This record gives sequence, C-alpha cells and structure tokens, in this order.
Amino acid sequence: MTDYLGQLRLGVNIDHVATVRNARGSSYPDPVRAAHLAEAAGADGITAHLREDRRHITDSDIERLMEALTVPLNFEMAATEEMQAIALRHKPHAVCIVPERREELTTEGGLEVARQENRLADFIAPLREAGCRVSLFIAADRAQVEAAARIGTDVVELHVGPLCDAFHEGHMDFHAAELARVAEMAMRAHELGLEVHAGHGITYDTVAPIAALPQVMELNIGHFLIGEAIFTGLKAAIAEMRRRMEAARG
Ligand code: PXP
Repeated sequence: MTDYLGQLRLGVNIDHVATVRNARGSSYPDPVRAAHLAEAAGADGITAHLREDRRHITDSDIERLMEALTVPLNFEMAATEEMQAIALRHKPHAVCIVPERREELTTEGGLEVARQENRLADFIAPLREAGCRVSLFIAADRAQVEAAARIGTDVVELHVGPLCDAFHEGHMDFHAAELARVAEMAMRAHELGLEVHAGHGITYDTVAPIAALPQVMELNIGHFLIGEAIFTGLKAAIAEMRRRMEAARG
C-alpha cells in the first residue's frame, strides 16, 4: 500500500525536562513551560511518562499538564493498578501502556501483549470506557501486533529504538532489516484496524524512513529534541524535526 493516509502528527515527550529539574531537586526547568513552548512550536500533542519511581515526571506535573494543555496529553504509564487509578482520575486524551522495570535507563523493550492478553484486555477496558484512546507500545513483532488487535486497543506504537540505535552505531544491515520489519508490522496493524504510531530513540538522522511509512500517523519524540534544545532552543528543534517529517512524507 503506497497511499499516504493522512498528516503525520508529532507528539513531543517532555520527560527529560523533568529529568534536568529533578537532578537538582529544584523547581526549574518546568516541563509544563516546555509543553507550552512545544505547543506554540507546532507539536500536535504532549507525551509524559509517569514512572512508578517518579524519576522524572511527577503526579503534580500530570495535574498541571491536564489543566494547562490545549493539545492532547498522551499519558504513558505501566499497566499497574496505581497508574490505572491515576489515568481514570484525569482521563487524558490518550493512554500509552509501556513495560517498566525499575533498573532500566529508559523503556527498553515493547510490552509483552501476547502472553498476557486476558490481563491486558481487562486492564484497558475501563480506560477505553472512560474515553481514553489506548495505545500499546510494542515491538514490531507479528505476535504482539495480532494480540494487540485481539484485545481491542485503539492504537499500537511500534518501538523503533532498535532501528534508530542501529543507525547511530553504524549497523546498517540491521537497520535495514529492522526498518523492513517495522514497515511490514505497520501494514499488518493497519490491516487489523489499528492506528499506528512509532517512537523511541528518533533523531534528525533517523526520522525520515519512519516518517515515510504511510500507515504511521504519529511519532513520539523526546530525548533527542530536549537535548537538541540545549543548542538551538526547543522551538527550533521541533520546527526542524517537523520539516524533516514533512519532507519525508512527500
Ligand atoms: N514512545 C514511548 C512509548 C516511550 O516510552 C518513549 C520514551 O519515554 C518515547 C516514545 C520517546 O522516546 P525518546 O525519548 O527516545 O524520543
């Protein structure tokens, strides 16, 4: 399928503004201020991950984001009862379920959907009933995509971290193979009626082939943009990412 299915949205993940703030236990830089700047720079949504250990985004950040944002909040969280209760209290536009392990530096793998279909189906049902669009962050793997479709999620976000890392480490064969896998699974997910997003590890140098995948409707990008903002400012970093996304989309 080669038809472009619509405009590609950019979700800006502001977690690492909070990482810098929390490194000194100060009140700045404020992720909500970053979210406002991102909105003004053309972000279609803001993503924030409330981790179990609150290492970056805090409960109060989520409260303030819910009050302040004019674009949708994509609330990333683990599939725990505590997080489900928080999501049901705030009812953000979207909830993205991610795996979480305390010792990891960042979300390292995709969610294991295939082996916990019943548990996840029960977990996401009340979120969907509350009006949240539910997204599952999964590896580009057929078993996971098909299981995600069976349990009735709205969206899958394909984990493109391995593909982006391979590019930056110069493993171009692996990069090409991963890209082919992501392309095939984006097509499969779309065939099954799922909206397809992609995220993790995306940079200026890796965004183009992902943005060019016609079934992908949204990219969620954080760490690189916040890092680039140190040099160019957040507004310019977002504008440049958008420019590359649009150029790749054709
Ligand atoms: N999508 C998901 C599901 C994530 O967990 C993350 C990282 O929090 C991102 C996108 C953004 O990844 P990055 O910060 O590497 O751009």
